[in-house]
Amino acid sequence: EKLLQRPATIIGTPKQARNDHIRPPRALYQPQRINSRGIELGDRAALQALLGDIGAARRPLSTMAATTAEQAVAAIAAGRKGFAVWSTTPAEVRAAALERAGDLLEQRRTTFIALLQDEGGKTLDDCISEVREAIDYCRYYAAEGRRLFGDGVALPGPTGESNTLRLRGRGVVVAISPWNFPLAIFLGQVTAALMAGNAVVAKPAEQTPVIAELAVTLLHEAGVPPEALQLVQGDGAIGAALVAHPDIAGVVFTGSTEVARAINRALAAKDGPIVPLIAETGGINAMIVDATALPEQVADDVVASAFRSAGQRCSALRLLFVQDDVADRTIELITGSARELRLGDPRDPATHIGPVIDAEAKAKLDAHIAHMRRDARLHYAGDAPTTGTYVAPHIFELRSAAELTEEVFGPILHVVRYNASELDAVVGAIAASRYALTLGVQSRIDETVARIVDRLPVGNVYVNRNIIGAVIGVQPFGGSGLSGTGPKAGGPHYLPRFALEQTLSINT
Ligand code: NAD
Ligand code: ALA
Repeated sequence: EKLLQRPATIIGTPKQARNDHIRPPRALYQPQRINSRGIELGDRAALQALLGDIGAARRPLSTMAATTAEQAVAAIAAGRKGFAVWSTTPAEVRAAALERAGDLLEQRRTTFIALLQDEGGKTLDDCISEVREAIDYCRYYAAEGRRLFGDGVALPGPTGESNTLRLRGRGVVVAISPWNFPLAIFLGQVTAALMAGNAVVAKPAEQTPVIAELAVTLLHEAGVPPEALQLVQGDGAIGAALVAHPDIAGVVFTGSTEVARAINRALAAKDGPIVPLIAETGGINAMIVDATALPEQVADDVVASAFRSAGQRCSALRLLFVQDDVADRTIELITGSARELRLGDPRDPATHIGPVIDAEAKAKLDAHIAHMRRDARLHYAGDAPTTGTYVAPHIFELRSAAELTEEVFGPILHVVRYNASELDAVVGAIAASRYALTLGVQSRIDETVARIVDRLPVGNVYVNRNIIGAVIGVQPFGGSGLSGTGPKAGGPHYLPRFALEQTLSINT
């Protein structure tokens, strides 16, 4: 809390939280009653006053000691003891602890919002959405855990036995998370693994250690025993040390495809039991816009999908295919809409786009922009503050989708024109990338939508809307191919991925 007591400069009136636009209609949202006590978005003035102590002092937020490899190994050993206790704790008690964590998060929302701004560089709207998502994870997995981990499923007993199929924890699960959702993804992984009866050793991204520290403290306070949830701080080398440990029972990883591959290789190289990996990675996410789409809606949805959160969402739009008949007009509208975006201090509620996470990320994005300026047609380059790690939105037109070969994790949109006879080739180009995370289709023709969607096994498909901001329990999130191993976080099939199944046949 001390770290947060600094002078404030928060001015202006914020736009309505974008997540409100992408929330589904109320009727659809009913099953999510569990979420209905989320962050109160209405009272901006109160929130701003509460945030009043957070200031613009340009100094490090914290210094965090990295865990040593020896400490990481000791955490796994302690986790085995934690597992013995936690796995035999009734599911109802585990669920109640997660619910208490959700309530505590709600009570401390301004602290977490402030930390997300300071440590993650996120805008106020993004911080509010993220805290709400983190609360949703706690409550959703608690409810799912009650449904799945109670008495088990009674099966037929044709020979007179009683047969039950039940789920139980696997052991010590290593949870490795990225910096771009340092609270929601960190807590999503941890709460799912805990609800399934596992002990967890969590390693957050090295860029966002303080948020993780506070989140773990909160879970302990909510009733999760310290040995059932331990935090290990450090960079990729510490993550690799945890993955290499012989006594782990599973890994849940969210981050880049490259690191997921490294973890997969490390697990495969180990002797002993086969250790499962849940990997949720990146994407070259596309949107296809045909001539029947509503131009103003396309512009809004493209700008939100490509530039919100400074493009630092795994779900963000990277590749826009526009039918040539409407391409010039569509690009003009998108450019006009992008021009309205304001870059700046994420603590200013009028800011739409904050900085990218660090100097390394900025250097990588600047290099990509320089490369595109040489090889592609520039349609738009925004203005960015000259100090700090800001990257302005850019729109480039490519001759072919094949020119974009890897995920570019920032506010850079690539556009490709196609003519109506080339729709199958567009679908083929998306499939050829072998990423399959999010996809947008903007068309008023049902057959066109079906023709595209049926042929692409993308994890999250969005029709005539933006492609970011999946809601827990409503749009379970995750992809396949280069985008991950397939499990959908925030969905009804997620928790069993963290569990073992056991059949109990009792001769009565
Ligand atoms: P990253 O892969 O660089 O790092 C992720 C985590 O892995 C960090 O905690 C890092 O310390 C750790 N790590 C690095 N090397 C390791 C190794 N050899 N062994 C074990 N752990 C190691 O990713 P990032 O830059 O933090 O995050 C951005 C990436 O995450 C993007 O590619 C984005 O698309 C992806 N992402 C995916 C999802 C999803 O749900 N699919 C969500 C958010 C982010
Ligand atoms: N789940 C996040 C989104 O959908 C990444 O934008």
